[in-house]
Parts: sequence; C-alpha cells; structure tokens
Amino acid sequence: MKRRSFLKGAAFVAAGAAASPLLKACGTTSAPKKADLSVAGNFTYGPDGKFTVMQLTDTHYIAGDKRSERALRCVQDALEGVKPDLVIHTGDILFGKPDIPSALEILRPLAESGIPWAVALGNHDSQFGSTREDVFRAIRALPGCINLPPKDGVYGCSNDVITLSGNTLEHVFYLFDSMDAVVLKGEEEIHCYDYIRHNQIAWYRSHSEHFAAMAGHPVPSLAFFHIPLCEIQEGLTGGKILAGNNCEPPCPSRLNSGLLAQFREMGDVKAIVTGHDHDCDYVLDYGQMYYIYGRYSGCDTVYNHLGRDGISPEKISGCRVFEFTEGQPGFKTYVRLQGGEIQQPLVLSR
Ligand SMILES: [Fe+2]
Repeated sequence: MKRRSFLKGAAFVAAGAAASPLLKACGTTSAPKKADLSVAGNFTYGPDGKFTVMQLTDTHYIAGDKRSERALRCVQDALEGVKPDLVIHTGDILFGKPDIPSALEILRPLAESGIPWAVALGNHDSQFGSTREDVFRAIRALPGCINLPPKDGVYGCSNDVITLSGNTLEHVFYLFDSMDAVVLKGEEEIHCYDYIRHNQIAWYRSHSEHFAAMAGHPVPSLAFFHIPLCEIQEGLTGGKILAGNNCEPPCPSRLNSGLLAQFREMGDVKAIVTGHDHDCDYVLDYGQMYYIYGRYSGCDTVYNHLGRDGISPEKISGCRVFEFTEGQPGFKTYVRLQGGEIQQPLVLSR
C-alpha cells in the first residue's frame, strides 16, 4: 500500500473512532486529580555496567496472513541477536483482524524470551474492532509485559515510566500513548493524527519534577511513542541528520500540544524515539534534541521500502538498539538489520 492511500485509510477509520466512545474507554481529557507516580519498571545495570534497550516498531502483523511471516522472523532474529535487557515496541503492533490474536502472536516471542518488555501503542492498534483498552489489556496479560494499567485521568493506555539506576538514578524512559487520529471540523473536515494531551503532559511533569527533586538535577531521559512531534519537520531543514535513511516526509499530528516545550522546560528528555514513518530510520539532531526513528520491524501488509542501502527491492526489517553505560552520560545507538548487519553506530553525548 502506498503512503497516500495508507493515510486516507487511517483517517477514515479515525473519523468513526473520534465520534465513538472508543477513545474515552482508555483515558479522559480531564486533568489528573492527584499525581500518579507509579513506575512500570526499575532497572539496574548488568555486572558489566551495561544496559541495552531494543526498540521494535511497526510490526503490522496480521495472524494467518503469510505476508506477516517476515515480521515474526524479524522479531525472533532481533531478540536472539541483540539479547537486550529491555524491549520497547513503539506501536502499530498489528494491522488487521483478528486484532487481539494478531497482537498476541507477534508479541509471543517477547513473552517467551524471559526479557521484560513494554509497548507504546500506535495509531493502528485499535482500528480493527477491539477497543484500545481491550487490546492493551490483552497485551498486558502476556508474560514479561511491564506496562501498568491505564492511569485514571491520563489520556490513552500505554503511558508508562521506566527507570535505570546505578548507584543513583541515571536514566528515565517515558512511554506515551500518541493515540490514533482526530477530526478537525471547520469549513471542511480535516483528518489528522492524534496529539499528546494536556493531562499526559501533566503526568510527565509530575514524574519529571519528582525525579529531579530526588536526584538534585534533571534526570537524562528518553521519550518513546509512536507518532513523531511536528517539530521534526522544522528540524529537517534546520538540524542535521547524523545517520540513517530519510526516505519519506514525516507524518506528525497537525496539532502541537507543546510536549517539546515541556521537555525543554524540564531539561531532562534528550531524545524523542518514534516509529510511524516506515521509510525513515534516521537520527536527527536539532535544538538540543535528538529525534530518533526506529527501524521498521514489520512486513508487507503495509508500505515499506527500506533495504540495506536506502530504498531497495530487497526489503530488510530490523530494530534499533540503545546501549547505556553505568556512570556515563548519553548513550550509544545503532540499527541492527535482520541477519545481524549493524548500521548507523552513533555515540550521542547529551
Ligand atoms: Fe505503521
């Protein structure tokens, strides 16, 4: 499927979703009454002083569809090749009916790996019949999933916080649910991807302030979610791509709810890690922020064109890896293609 028709399909489904109670099922638009500081996981470094996070994204799996087999092989190969300490799937886990069985089947290798894992749902994960809450509940029931239940008063399902400590708290990983899509009604209907809501930002700020008070300084953090922020578009003209493929324009929400401004104000989030745009896997440095795409981990149920060297008839899925070292600021990141080839090795110092 080409990107244009893909987007139209997404918007059409979203129009129905926006008018239905589906979105209300797993979040509200009201501000949280009391800060929920629950944490999905507190991790420490291994004996070698390292901690490895593997990002999967956009598996777009459909159970029983032979086109999906490539995604399943990719996930299994990535787990065996990277042997991470934590896996984060940044959404579009599934792409058709039966939706919950599709999610459970593509996540099964994670559940059987013994490695803890979490998801930040994508726009397609609740477009095939089941509510977002029901899909999320089924995923959470799998072994190894560390996502907590949806928080009262925080929009969406997969908003979670994960910490990594040495002698002290060194890194925080924020997972946001960037939801599905919204319909802007005016002289004409405008469909656009969803945005991070005010109460999600308030929830993030509560954690950020809490951690800063504990540590005595902003704690370096990475934010993981599916749909990139709209500031990435400006970054492509004003910033610098440090590595990776930039083979399609980003498709963020048209609505800017100010999450980046809050990251800057709090001074902790150093990198925004997303999926969503399947033909991008770059690291962009702009305005003291790293905008990082995962590597497409999916299959041919939907558009994807990346191979070993950019657009290629030989399409290769993969994953992105983040390596943290105890006591050291920043992190290493690279893309691992299915089969083991490493691309884009970078040391990011902030
Ligand atoms: Fe996707």
